Amino acid sequence: MNLIIMCIFAYFLGSIPNAVWVGKVFKKIDVREHGSKNAGSTNAARVLGAKLGILVLILDVLKGVIPTYLALGINTLGNMTGIAGIDPIIIGIVAILGHTFSIFLKFKGGKGVATTLGVFLVLAPKAILFLFIIFFVLFAVFRYVSLSSIVSAACLPFFIYFIYKNIPLTVVSLILALVIIVKHRSNIQRLINGTENKFKVTKDGEK
Ligand code: G3P
Repeated sequence: MNLIIMCIFAYFLGSIPNAVWVGKVFKKIDVREHGSKNAGSTNAARVLGAKLGILVLILDVLKGVIPTYLALGINTLGNMTGIAGIDPIIIGIVAILGHTFSIFLKFKGGKGVATTLGVFLVLAPKAILFLFIIFFVLFAVFRYVSLSSIVSAACLPFFIYFIYKNIPLTVVSLILALVIIVKHRSNIQRLINGTENKFKVTKDGEK
């Protein structure tokens, strides 16, 4: 019962389309109609400007952090309170699924990078530290957020395995990495064609 309630909470929280709602509330712009048309923080920064992009990034990361951290806490307290343990990995997956298949966007959504980051910041912070380095080195050299996201996602299962030796978490991270890569298929096509946009963000965005 507790697991079901937590899953519903994680799904609805994950479903909140921050990029779309922030764009509509602050600038009356639907980010799905501009830039890469993705409902994520990169496109929010591109279309709405740096400040709102950072706001969306923080909110999207929190969608992963909050339910996973809560589940971890309930799990830890489980022995003391008698509440059945709630698997934080399951809750994290549900939050990410909420982001990528949002109930508020007709089961469409973002590419899952920021919310996955939030989940693994709680579950595997050491791995995230290494991924940050990979992400920012690639970004500094090539200036493609998509390329940095794809390579970082692909590296996630390796770091989980070698740092934590946790097979269930490695398998989950592998599946989530595949989801992120599949969600980036239009970016991959543009990278191959040489038409992917290098990331540049202006104070007020493109719109
Ligand atoms: O997290 C999404 C990012 O990797 C790419 O975003 O808007 O360039 O498709 P975008």
